[in-house]
Amino acid sequence: MLISQDAAASIRDAHDVTGRCSRFDGVDLEALVTRVGTPCHVYSASAIRERIHDLHRALSGLDAQICFAVKANPLRAILELMAAAGIGADIVSAGELRRALDAGIDPGRIVFSGVGKTADEMCHALDAEIARFNVESLDELETLQRLAAERTQVANVALRINPDVDARTHAKISTGMSENKFGVNIDVARGCFANQREYPNLRLNGLHVHIGSQILSLQPFREALERVAAFRRELEAAGHVIHSIDVGGGLGVCYREGHDDPPSASDYVETIRHALHDYRGRIVLEPGRWLVAEAGILLSRVIRVKHGDERDFLILDAAMNDLARPSLYDAWHDIVALSSNSRAQVEYDIVGPVCETGDTFARGRMLPECGEGDLVMIRTTGAYAASMASTYNSRPLAAEVLVDRGRWSLVRRRQSHAEMCLGELPALDWQEA
Ligand code: LLP
Repeated sequence: MLISQDAAASIRDAHDVTGRCSRFDGVDLEALVTRVGTPCHVYSASAIRERIHDLHRALSGLDAQICFAVKANPLRAILELMAAAGIGADIVSAGELRRALDAGIDPGRIVFSGVGKTADEMCHALDAEIARFNVESLDELETLQRLAAERTQVANVALRINPDVDARTHAKISTGMSENKFGVNIDVARGCFANQREYPNLRLNGLHVHIGSQILSLQPFREALERVAAFRRELEAAGHVIHSIDVGGGLGVCYREGHDDPPSASDYVETIRHALHDYRGRIVLEPGRWLVAEAGILLSRVIRVKHGDERDFLILDAAMNDLARPSLYDAWHDIVALSSNSRAQVEYDIVGPVCETGDTFARGRMLPECGEGDLVMIRTTGAYAASMASTYNSRPLAAEVLVDRGRWSLVRRRQSHAEMCLGELPALDWQEA
């Protein structure tokens, strides 16, 4: 779906790092936070639709299905946007299955990935009649065969290939090397296809590959896809039919303006087209970050400025429990002071209130001088921010808001202290062991 020029302009305005403009998808951010408070995650529906549109356009002419990687942002309102655009889901747990179904995503467009699916989770997915299981080990294949047979069901299976390719991204989000826990090597995969008759309740007719996340160069994708394409040819020559190739996710985004230069959707898809040029079946894509990361911001107020012996600390009311990426992966996020504009530039360490030095969003960052109550925007937080949030230091989960061409909707209430403690019990009900 094309978005209006106005909406597109408002997204760019919000990303104006000079801080002169504080509108996001047509919504005034100062006015918004006086209503919903801080910290607060905000997502632009227009920006997400724009990404979906760009990817659909790049895929035109191909038999392709986009399955959003739910782990990037499992919020119901986001999944509903995906469902409305005909997008499916890549899930990794029964919890994600539940969220995808509740949001109206067609089970026929759901694929189930992950190295540790439990038998219970597989049963949920079989009951929901999802499109396909992306299987990652022989043991998983055998368990799925047993469960499908018990239900007299036949399930579609793709084998996740570990192509032993270095995605050249952060080690903690790299998945395609032989030392990683993911997928099976081509020899094991070959054996599974050869022994297909041992799995009468599985249609072993797909290949899957996912080599990592926040990948900024096309070369690793090219290498991985070429290995999968060669294996597909070998399988077809041996008489197997490959109905689907799932190329995973991993396409990177810009976290640091003027520094990160991610490939465009069309160049990424061109790489897929080229590697799979002689393949006529369905192509599945599992983007997470690329669809939503740049459509999200985290708004936070300055609690105080602390002048340390060696550095000035800008202490925000957001913390590592709201956005863990800087402390987990040393990730860079651009940060913009929205309240101040023409003030002198000052070097800050931008930190949260959590009692760990790791609770640091940025070190030595230049910002216009800030004071108590000023509003700060951390950019590119639409993926792997709220979805990885915790209540560490007993800080309730932040509010989440969807904005859309001048309107906003609170799509997740700020957690209350009572909600944060929900489910806890005093140790009164002792059971004899
Ligand atoms: N498919 C599979 C099988 C995956 O494991 C993942 C992500 C994706 C698709 C989506 O990848 P994306 O398009 O979002 O790169 N928490 C980390 C990212 C972990 C990614 C895990 N798997 C971060 O904040 O950078």
